[in-house]
This record gives sequence, structure tokens and C-alpha cells, in this order.
Amino acid sequence: MEVMIVSSSDEVAQVAADILRDMLLHKPACVLGLATGSTPIALYGELVHRYQQGEISLREVQTFNLDEYLGLQPKSRLSYRRFMSEHLFAHTDIEADNIHFPECAAEQDPRTVGPGYEWAISNAGGIDLQVLGIGANGHIGFNEPSSSLGSRTRVKALAPRTLQDNSKLLRDDETQPEMAITMGIGTIMDARRILLLATGEHKAAAVAGAVEGAISAMHPASVLQAHQRVRVIVDEAAASQLQLREYYQWVRRKNDSIASQHGGSADDDPWFHKTVEDLD
Ligand code: PGA
Repeated sequence: MEVMIVSSSDEVAQVAADILRDMLLHKPACVLGLATGSTPIALYGELVHRYQQGEISLREVQTFNLDEYLGLQPKSRLSYRRFMSEHLFAHTDIEADNIHFPECAAEQDPRTVGPGYEWAISNAGGIDLQVLGIGANGHIGFNEPSSSLGSRTRVKALAPRTLQDNSKLLRDDETQPEMAITMGIGTIMDARRILLLATGEHKAAAVAGAVEGAISAMHPASVLQAHQRVRVIVDEAAASQLQLREYYQWVRRKNDSIASQHGGSADDDPWFHKTVEDLD
């Protein structure tokens, strides 16, 4: 795990956008796993800005979002498809057919969505880079505490803490979705690279549990400790409960000094080097 502590939430977005830009330059037809929520909004804004500047293109990219609510009215304001369109997709050159959500059609049995989504991810070649936020209860996607660490895409009922956190975003006339279809923890762990973003003091305990706590289904993000290529990008507030804060900063300075001596382009970055999984 590489922990990058930066000074502000804006810098989290900048650093994450640099990594996504490098991914897009390194592999223009890459497969991205994307997250919704308040955390990645600034990242998506930055990507739109960079697209408008001609720095990046999403023309060949395929995307798979982590999750989608179940039982929403068509075109609901709460849908994650709509969120992604508003914050990113509609402002870029991504092809509509390359955008994927674990959605359930009107008459479909929601329990059949997961296997089809897993198949689509695998058929696209697997996820090259997965962007994640983290819930205050340690969830990733909608994998709530007690989710199997090997779970695949499936229906999940949301935890009370998640319902409470999400209720703040509802308007008076809106009914809160209580279930979702989410990539599983096993699905997320199959991604070749993972970027976990967190900002604000309300995430500090969740981040500390993910990075320094015991690996446990009670804190799903802690499983990321067992992944080969995870970068955790947090602002000072979200990092405030990390015991090894200074060590992570020291490691980063050391790694930067190697990059400045031996080349700092995406192709020189071990994050992008091929591993055996890339050859699957
Ligand atoms: P947030 O949600 O970005 O809105 O804090 C993150 C999550 O619940 O995964």
C-alpha cells in the first residue's frame, strides 16, 4: 500500500487526476472502475477540465461503475448513471456503449445482474484501474461490514450507517433506496490497480482502519492491504488518525527521489509496469 498524504481535498483530486491521466496515456483503451459519492466529484471535474484542454481522451476507454441503486424510477435523480453523466461522461468523448453499470431492468430478477456484470468486466479484459471512496463504516462499493471478502457482484441491503449518511442527500419528495447492486470485494480485488480516495475528518477512523487495522470483513476496506498495487490518497484531515503518518511521507519523498534520478514518466512508474495478471 502506498499512502499519499496531501494538503487539501483539491490536491487529492489533482494527484488522482495525474494518475488517471498517466493510465490513459499508458493504455488509451484501458478499463476503468469508477465510484460515485461526494469524494470523487472534484476528480471528475479535473478530468473534464483536462479533457477540455486536450490533455486526455476517453474515446477508447471502457468504464464499469462500482454500484447502482435498486428499484429507482427510470431517470431518477438519485441514479448513479445520472450522477456519472452529470459529473463526467456527458462532458467527455466517451462512447455510450462503453459505459457500464450493474443495473437491473424493470422485469429482471436482480439476482441475475451480478453474474452478467462479472462476465462483462472479464470480457472487457478486467479492470486496469479502480477508483474507490470509503464509507464512514469502512465499506467499499456497497460492501457493508460483514460482506464476504471474496464476494462478487450481487444485491446488497444497505447498512443503517450508510442509509443515515445518504439520507442527507435526499429531497423531501424522494424515497430512499435501501438496496443496491454492487461489485463484490472479490471483484474489486481483481482490479490490477486500485486508487482509494478519502477527504475530511469524518473519514479519518475509516482510513485508519483500512490502512492500519486488522484485515476483517467488519471493515471491508482493510482487505486492500492484501492487494499488490493500491494507492491511498488522503488529505491531512482524513489522515489524522494514521499512526505512521510521518513514515508514509518519508517513504514518498524517498520514492520521488528515485523517480527524479531514473525518470518520472508513466512508463517508468512501477505502478504501470506489467505483472503476470496483465498477461491473462
Ligand atoms: P462519499 O461516499 O464519497 O460520499 O463520502 C463514499 C462511500 O460511501 O463509498
